[in-house]
Amino acid sequence: MDEKFEHLINSFLMNQVGETSDFLEPKLAMSLKINLLKLYAQKQFKPSKIGNHSNQRLDDSIRNDKILWIERPMHEGAEKDLFNLIDRFVLHLNKTCYTGIKDYEFHFAHYAIGSYYKRHLDTFKDDSGRAYSIILYLNHDWQKGDGGELCIYHENYTQVIEPLAGKCIFFKSSESEHEVLINNQPRLSITGWLKVL
Ligand code: OGA
Ligand code: NI
Repeated sequence: MDEKFEHLINSFLMNQVGETSDFLEPKLAMSLKINLLKLYAQKQFKPSKIGNHSNQRLDDSIRNDKILWIERPMHEGAEKDLFNLIDRFVLHLNKTCYTGIKDYEFHFAHYAIGSYYKRHLDTFKDDSGRAYSIILYLNHDWQKGDGGELCIYHENYTQVIEPLAGKCIFFKSSESEHEVLINNQPRLSITGWLKVL
């Protein structure tokens, strides 16, 4: 397990964006996907908002995915395994990189066909417990042409990431501008933030 964490952290240190393809075990990625789809079918997802907690608004010119926050005590099974994994990752980060992470928040995201999230940073003016962003993908059958790539805008180039099941992306929330391109197939993910406040 520590090897996966090391791989993710090393690519983050080298390239500002950590990427590892097998952060979620295949079984866990599948269980999370099944749970996401069930909760989505039960209409528990809400249109996502932009802005921080005191200043949230809907703006479907910027993003039009739907989300459901994952509340730790409410979940058993796959979500619990996910949080245990994140706990281990946070411990590892705090120990090896002195990151001082104290809390985190995660939500499921469902991008129906034709969704997007335009170029943005994950921090807002007066929020900022958000130190690091983590994205986990749950798209087992994703193929080229399905769209929904994550683009990360580096100073001199744009990194294009395919949203493949099990993959984890990790970057500083206040530094890496990014965008989700329009998808031609439903696109499933879990996004979270590691917080220092
Ligand atoms: C976000 C975000 C990227 C992705 O939720 O803030 O940028 O690839 N998500 O889902
Ligand atoms: Ni983002």
